[in-house]
Parts: sequence; structure tokens; C-alpha cells
Amino acid sequence: MASISVCPGSFDPVTFGHIDIIRRASKVFDKVYVCVLNNASKHPLFTVEERIVLLKEVTKEFGNVEVEDFHGLLIDYARSKNASAIVRGLRAVSDFEYEMQITSMNRVLDESIETLFMMTNNQYSFLSSSIVKEVAKYSGAVSELVPPVVEEALRVKFQEKK
Ligand code: PNS
Repeated sequence: MASISVCPGSFDPVTFGHIDIIRRASKVFDKVYVCVLNNASKHPLFTVEERIVLLKEVTKEFGNVEVEDFHGLLIDYARSKNASAIVRGLRAVSDFEYEMQITSMNRVLDESIETLFMMTNNQYSFLSSSIVKEVAKYSGAVSELVPPVVEEALRVKFQEKK
């Protein structure tokens, strides 16, 4: 039986940190579904469609990765894909409380689907979509943080907002 996992997130926008986790998950699982979901506590900069386009572009080299969006509960999406695991990246201790809360909630909803954590590569331990947006908003250099296609999308987005 094929091993299937879901890499969920807001991906607003996708960063090198996300790509590192997706790449590593794609080596562990036969199939990885990267899913753009709504985080109720965030106000996204990019539309879901824009985020999907960027994610597809930056993951196209991974043959077993598919990108989709889902409007609903992550656990329902994972079930619909017959996934045995949800993969999340863990950066610092500060991530832990939030991750523990959503992991525990998802386990209450369906204990058969495990959440697995991958420690973020040290070079990306400080990196978040929020910090990238903050820097890009004021025209700071983000080329070390996101792929060129995302850098350009950020430039266009903040240009539109002026
Ligand atoms: O990249 P993020 O914002 O940390 O990802 C959080 C996300 C989108 C995975 C989380 O908010 C989520 O699972 N949203 C879907 C709604 C859901 O299932 N909520 C119940 C778990 S708390």
C-alpha cells in the first residue's frame, strides 16, 4: 500500500523553509499532498489561487508531490486522500504550543491519522512567511528566503498596493 501524507499550511507565500519540508517529506512518503488551507487567525496577502500557482511552480521538480486547496477541516482533507500522516515543520520552541494544540485537536477528530514533525533545517529556523512579507513590503532583499518566482510575486503584490 502506498504511503500518503499531507503537508498543510497557509503558504502565504511559500518559502525555502516550506520547500525544504516538502522535499524531505517527498523522500519519506510515496505521495505528498501539499494543501493550502484557511488559517482563521491570519489575513492572507495572496489569494488561494495565487498561492497554488506559486506552490506548483516551486514543487514541480518533485514527481510525487501534488498541490491543492481545501475549504474545510484539515483532517477531512487528509481522510479524503487516504493519508496516514500530516507532516508539519517545527522551527523553535515558540512553535510548539500552537502545534501541540492543532495536533491534539486533529487527534480528537481522527486518531488514526498521525501528525509527524520535521525539524526545520537550521538555516531556515528563523524563517516565516510573515517575516518575508515584512521585509518585502519595504523592498528589502528576500532572495535568500524565497525562490525568484515568489520574490517577483511579492514585488508585484506590494507594487499594486502602493
Ligand atoms: O501555515 P499555518 O498557517 O501554520 O497552517 C495552519 C493550518 C492552515 C494548517 C491550520 O490553520 C488548519 O489546519 N486549518 C484548517 C482548519 C482546521 O482543520 N482546523 C482544525 C485544526 S485546529
